[in-house]
Amino acid sequence: MDVIVRKADLATRPVGLLAVGVAEGGKRLAGAAQRLDRATHGALAALLAAGDFAGRAGETALLYPRGVRAKRVLLVGLGPAAGRDAQRLLLAAAQAARRARDLGAGTLALALDDGIPPDVATLRALAEGALLGHHRFTAYRRESKAPLTRIEILSPAVLVKGAAAAVGQGAQLGGAVCLARDLANTPGQDLVPETLASRAREIAKHVGATVTVLDEDAMERLGMGCVLGVGRGSAHPPRFIVLEKSPARPAARGTKTPTVVVIGKGVTFDTGGYSLKPREGMSRMKYDMSGAAAVLGLFASLPAIALDVRLVGLIPSAENMVGSRALKPGDVLRALDGTTIEVTNTDAEGRLLLADALGYARRFQPGTVLDLATLTGAISVALGRAAAGLFTRDDALAAELDAAGGAVGERLWRMPLWDDYLVEMKAGETADLVNSSEKREGGACAAAAFLEHFAKGMRWAHLDIASTAWTHEARADSARGANAFGVRLLVRWLESRGR
Ligand code: BES
Ligand code: MN
Ligand code: ZN
Repeated sequence: MDVIVRKADLATRPVGLLAVGVAEGGKRLAGAAQRLDRATHGALAALLAAGDFAGRAGETALLYPRGVRAKRVLLVGLGPAAGRDAQRLLLAAAQAARRARDLGAGTLALALDDGIPPDVATLRALAEGALLGHHRFTAYRRESKAPLTRIEILSPAVLVKGAAAAVGQGAQLGGAVCLARDLANTPGQDLVPETLASRAREIAKHVGATVTVLDEDAMERLGMGCVLGVGRGSAHPPRFIVLEKSPARPAARGTKTPTVVVIGKGVTFDTGGYSLKPREGMSRMKYDMSGAAAVLGLFASLPAIALDVRLVGLIPSAENMVGSRALKPGDVLRALDGTTIEVTNTDAEGRLLLADALGYARRFQPGTVLDLATLTGAISVALGRAAAGLFTRDDALAAELDAAGGAVGERLWRMPLWDDYLVEMKAGETADLVNSSEKREGGACAAAAFLEHFAKGMRWAHLDIASTAWTHEARADSARGANAFGVRLLVRWLESRGR
């Protein structure tokens, strides 16, 4: 699908759907809304006068007016002028694209301006939002709503400098999120660790990153006992995927380019192993590689962002199965850093993978390490679906991530990392740690405390995205299913770092 920007009058575009932004609470119509009203001899004013539409953010109305060449017109509420940021416009564009696709409109024109040509940040957001709202996971559907063939962003006056490039960036970012969604939505039968590795190779090649995939022999030599242990019960062997990309321009003389390591949990399916999940708990577990998908989505975004750090992506990937070779409760694993772990619960496999990944992260002498993982059901008990859990001891890092998430609608909520939680993980009889204590309370915090043992001394944050990575009810910017939570947050965070 093409996304373009053009200077054109909204009345003249022969599209399937024309989306026009309407502000809330304005005394007079302005910008696109005013032009639409003129072209349609007052169709919009009549609607507003009837009190049927107020321009609230998220509100829409579908019209079939005369006076425009579009087949249909969708009014999209933009909310009050105060607080109308790029994210709000992104959601408006997403809503329009979602509706256009549902209507089978074929083509969409977006006229969401207030009379001033959209700036580059707005254009980027509109293009990105349009792709997000348009996305569906259709790989396994015979019948589905046809995708749009073209989305035009209309500018009321001469395009600002860099307009086309900004739209290109937005489309690239939106496309990267959609790619991550497709990965996380892919059934476990068709996405095993080796498939994930192939996808990582493709993406790395596309964006000019290097990629190394460690197989079982390589992991054996290194001593990654945890990844090997979790993957042992599957016919599809585990993989450890390493991606790396350096900035196009080297750091200024006398300074060193800092390294950021981003780790994503890559469990391609989580049955729970011998600590088997109940049937309701298992049905969605293809998305247990959402952290890995976020890392790959971030790498796929790189052409659209000015990278000023060395970025390393680590994906420990395994399928958590039962089988004659599978991990048994009571087995003891040795992590890359030498810590021994008694596997008291084979369903607490994510933290095992991350233990080895955190150990591996150290070799890059990173300035910052982040991990994203669908790690615990307990984070949803704590936070519902409204936020992902953020665990870090570093207040500055917490503030950065919180701001990045808030700006893109991927909310984080800070959770505690206290030594109290680690006490129970050290209370086993056999090994240095257990991977799960008998306590159910505070499960997300206990998991984070376990990870901290392996992250000691590094500037590190853990994002438990089990609460947010799945969209249960469709919203403007996401169909139902895996939503690639974290990609946009990471992009935003990388872009705002050091600024
Ligand atoms: N992948 C799950 C976490 C999960 C649960 C994600 C529900 C999304 C929805 C993880 O591997 C897991 O099973 N965690 C256990 C930990 C427990 C055994 C300590 C859990 O949350 O029940
Ligand atoms: Mn599990
Ligand atoms: Zn899991």
